[in-house]
This record gives sequence, structure tokens and C-alpha cells, in this order.
Amino acid sequence: VFSNIVRAPEDPILGVTVAYNKDTSPNKLNLGVGAYRTEEGKPLVLNVVRKAEQILVNDQSRVKEYLPIVGLADFNKLSAKLILGADSPAIQENRITTVQGLSGTGSLRVGGEFLARHYHQLTIYIPQPTWGNHTKVFTLAGLSVKTYRYYDPATRGLDFQGLLEDLGSAPTGSVVLLHACAHNPTGVDPTLEQWEQIRQLIRSKAFLPFFDSAYQGFASGSLDADAQPVRLFVGDGGECLVAQSYAKNMGLYGERVGALSIVCKTADVASRVESQLKLVIRPMYSNPPIHGASIVATILKNSDLYNEWTIELKAMADRIISMRHQLFDALTARGTPGDWSHIMKQIGMFTFTGLNSEQVAFMTKEYHIYMTSDGRISMAGLSSKTVPHLADAIHAAVTR
Ligand code: LMR
Repeated sequence: VFSNIVRAPEDPILGVTVAYNKDTSPNKLNLGVGAYRTEEGKPLVLNVVRKAEQILVNDQSRVKEYLPIVGLADFNKLSAKLILGADSPAIQENRITTVQGLSGTGSLRVGGEFLARHYHQLTIYIPQPTWGNHTKVFTLAGLSVKTYRYYDPATRGLDFQGLLEDLGSAPTGSVVLLHACAHNPTGVDPTLEQWEQIRQLIRSKAFLPFFDSAYQGFASGSLDADAQPVRLFVGDGGECLVAQSYAKNMGLYGERVGALSIVCKTADVASRVESQLKLVIRPMYSNPPIHGASIVATILKNSDLYNEWTIELKAMADRIISMRHQLFDALTARGTPGDWSHIMKQIGMFTFTGLNSEQVAFMTKEYHIYMTSDGRISMAGLSSKTVPHLADAIHAAVTR
């Protein structure tokens, strides 16, 4: 019955790793998926995560019972506090509901399905470009996806005018997806002043903001600084949705741990919203896994572990920033044609190099460097040892 089935293409991001794994070259380099690597090119398990796991293993009272549909209560409360700040009025007034999700992706999907069932506007505006999975997640959730201008290839920076124009002409009440910080794939974020203008526009048109927060702490190294845009919106008393991921900032990629928060007008509304979120989650995966959420909760509720986490997080962010400088210097030293200052200006895990798909294909074929075809490179996958190889490849690609 399946003999006519058509082979589907590999995922544009995760498929890069599939191709990389097949390459037998000793010089191969994977700058595709956004996953942190050490200077030795190895995945990193944070010390604080090891410690939390030890605490969990030693606690003989722990059982493997099902979690509630909405997940681990401590984890949910602490996640809301992490993104909104402990003094957030939305938390104090109890008008927020937070449910555990399967990392950022699962949280976006649950939020999308909830909106498709209960919100009056089915159109979601996402930035152009955005993380490749957004369109699929929201389309399959039942929303209709449209884009707003975000990135200006000429400046390799924000197309702020385009953003204001496109959102300005979107229908009242639309859902607007915003990257909370460290925009993926461009590494280009609005300034706080621009965020304030975006907030005013969004509130004046009664849009519903939906934040994707996958990199809190990765952009600046500070958890609070990276949460500022979300807090700006929550601070005005209006509604919003926030999907959080602990994949990058705690290095818990494969644990699939994240959260969806919906900030409402009153505590009563929030509790009714939560009752409906349960109806979305139960038939989808019943209830979320316990281990990753327990690690996060253990770290967030223990001040020593929390402080240690912030130090390790800052070290990851700083190493990425140092890679930006090293790559920029290596291209300058080679006299590579073009302005490469955007490598240092862009923030977070990625640089949107401006290389086109032919140049990317050339670098993969000749230099065994793997990256997404839009020219995005994961700075977290680079090390001092591999910067010269990447700089050689970029130089060859733009001068051929
Ligand atoms: C990425 O953009 O590389 C990450 O968010 C990983 C993923 O799931 O695509």
C-alpha cells in the first residue's frame, strides 16, 4: 500500500547534520544546526546539569509516575519567573498560565493549536526570514501564515521601516510572531527603542504577540537583559504568548524541555485558558516527560546552582562572541572582499553571512563545511582551530 510513496526531502536544518555524518573527511565541520560545541568541537553538558542530575539520582523518593497534563508545577512556575521576572505583575496577579512543552517547538505547536481553536484571528505574521520550522509548525496547527519584512540584505541589518509598514497594514487582531532575542537565522535584533515602537504598534492594532524565546541568555550573556523585550510587552498589562526552550541555554537539546506561557487579563481567564490547553495536549502526547523538567526545576530553585548556571551560560555566550571576532579578523587578514562587520554586529548563536546557496554548496563540496543553504552559520560550532579553515573557505567562495 505504500509502494507509491514519494521520498520526502531532508529537513533544511537537521538534514545538514545527516549529510555531515556521511562525510568521511577529517576536516569536516558542521555549522548547520544551532548546537553549542566546546573549543574541542565536542557537545557540552553543563556542570550544573550534571550536579542537578546527581541530586535527582540520589533522591530515592523520586518516582516515575505520569506528570499532570500541564507538566511539573515547580518547573512551570520557575519558567514563568525566569522569562517575566519575579516581580512581574502578571505573575503576582496570577493571570498567567504556564504549561510544560516539548522544548520550543512543542510549545509553539501547542500555542498555535490553542489559537486555531479559540482565537478570533487565524492569521499569524512571522518575520521574513525566520526559523525554517515556524511556517510548518503554525500551518499544521491550523493557522494561516503570512510574513512581515524583517531583514535588509543590503545592510545585513534590520529592515525596521519594512517591518513597521507590513505590520501597520496587517489586519487588526492578527497574531504576530516575535523572536524574543537573538533572531534565528539572522542574528539581527531590534534595539530596545525599536522594540518600544513595535510594542506601541502591536497594541494600537490589537495584535496578539507570540514570542519565541529560544536563546534567553545567549544573546548578551545575561538572562534578564535578553528577556527585556518580552517584559516590555507584559509590563503594559496586555496579553501575549511566550514559548521558551531550554535546549540552548541549559544545553538540554535532547531532553526536549520548554514551556508555553499565556499572559491573560485576569486570573479567572488564565485558569479557563489552561483548561483548554489541557484539551490540546492530552490527545497530542498526553503529558510531558519528567526528567528534563526536573533538571531545570532543580537548577532554578537552588540559588547556588542558579548562580553557577549563569556563569556557565555567560561563558558560552562569551566564547561565541570571541568566535565572531576571530572570524572577522581572519577574513580581514586574508583581504576577503566585502564588508564583514555584520559578523561582529549580529548576535546570538548565528551569523547570517550573506553567502548565497551556490557559495554554500561550493564550501561544502570543496571544504567539507556544512551549513544551511541560506548562508547561516552556527558560531557555536566554531573553534579557534577551525576558524582559519572557515575563513579560507569563505575567501575562496567569494573570490572564485
Ligand atoms: C536551529 O535553528 O538550528 C535549531 O533551532 C535547531 C532546530 O531544531 O532547527
